[in-house]
Amino acid sequence: MNIVPHDFHICRKDRQDLKKHRSFVVWFTGLSGSGKSTLANMVEKKLFEAGIHTFSLDGDNIRKGLNSNLGFNAEDRRENLRRISEVAKLFVNSGTVVIASFISPLKADRQVVKDIIGDDDFIEIYVNTPMEVCEARDVKGLYKKARAGEIRNFTGIDAPYEAPKNPDIEINTKEEEAGKSAERIIVFLQKKLEIK
Ligand code: PPS
Repeated sequence: MNIVPHDFHICRKDRQDLKKHRSFVVWFTGLSGSGKSTLANMVEKKLFEAGIHTFSLDGDNIRKGLNSNLGFNAEDRRENLRRISEVAKLFVNSGTVVIASFISPLKADRQVVKDIIGDDDFIEIYVNTPMEVCEARDVKGLYKKARAGEIRNFTGIDAPYEAPKNPDIEINTKEEEAGKSAERIIVFLQKKLEIK
């Protein structure tokens, strides 16, 4: 109520024109330890080296700062993702390609993300790594803790993960080497970037 948006002189199109490419969000979803951040990192590096303006959003820079008051129950995850989507949208308006890696386990919550960012600016990448593989890797030791009951609401153990049915890209990390997957993602993004 009583919020009247200001009319700014410079708009998203101006910023995109300056940067000479389109802006949008590349959203990686998948279990903890599925390889989201590894892939996101590789993709961002390739884009950056090609002169694309990028910014990464992930658990490290969001859950330790902006969302440090949120945990992992269903309500907090929803709020986590809602805030991240609003931040991602600001970055898109700044003309930046956002690389976002979040478990984002529920279909309904991912739909909210998509609604906030906008269909046209949202690319969904499903990092499909089977639970057994993630658990066997257990890079952060969190699966072990969850099995021991030291962490509650752990995705895949006592909290759900609903796999996307129609992602823009699905990565099967068991069958494809990470470098190849990153390359495939870049090929997909090239058209979307509309480089001038
Ligand atoms: S979510 O579901 O999208 O809100 O989660 P996200 O913000 O991506 O945070 C996931 C990272 O938090 C760590 N962690 C947990 N993950 C899942 N469930 C529980 N209970 C949990 N507690 C802590 C974990 O390191 C996740 O990082 P990634 O990179 O996915 O392994």
